Amino acid sequence: MSSLPRLAVLGSGKGSNFVALQEAILAGRLAAEIAVVVSDLPNAAILARAAAFGLPAATLPPSPFKTKLGPEAEAALLGILRAHRAEWVVLAGYMRVVKAPLLEAFPNRIINIHPSLLPRFKGLRAWEQALNAGVAETGCTVHFVNADIDAGEIIAQQRVEVLPGDTPETLHARIQVAEHELYPSALAKVLRSA
Ligand code: GRF
Repeated sequence: MSSLPRLAVLGSGKGSNFVALQEAILAGRLAAEIAVVVSDLPNAAILARAAAFGLPAATLPPSPFKTKLGPEAEAALLGILRAHRAEWVVLAGYMRVVKAPLLEAFPNRIINIHPSLLPRFKGLRAWEQALNAGVAETGCTVHFVNADIDAGEIIAQQRVEVLPGDTPETLHARIQVAEHELYPSALAKVLRSA
């Protein structure tokens, strides 16, 4: 049996960071195994991308709120993570607040990537916040998740220059290129020192 750390990847969107992680695993740059990919949204592209890699994928039941899971979905999530023997929870474009049940089940084992140089520009559309603030550089941050939004201990950051003429879309696209480099290497570092 393999003794690689077992990751559960949670995402609500297109899953490009998930793909970067799985490609790093396949290339031998990240010593881990993706045990399951979970989405809160049944149509999220991350689910199809997980299936294309032959990885188990699961969708949570609907929640009555937009920004957090309801009790049924929260219980389903914990059940899925247990069933797949997940040891780490890796958020990759997961758009819901992480609450106590998950935080307590995986203490210091939930990791996120955020598209800014935290602590600046927490929250949604951080690249647009950076553009509106007129900063010369922004970037991305890999951090541990705690009960405060985008405020857990920082693991690694990568800078991205804001260029003249950048739109929210062009800037976000360059930040995503940086994310795809940073996330696998930052995660590898965490797993090595765990
Ligand atoms: C990324 O920009 C990430 O920083 C943020 O959500 C986006 C997810 O993109 N948390 P993807 O689904 O991985 O392509």
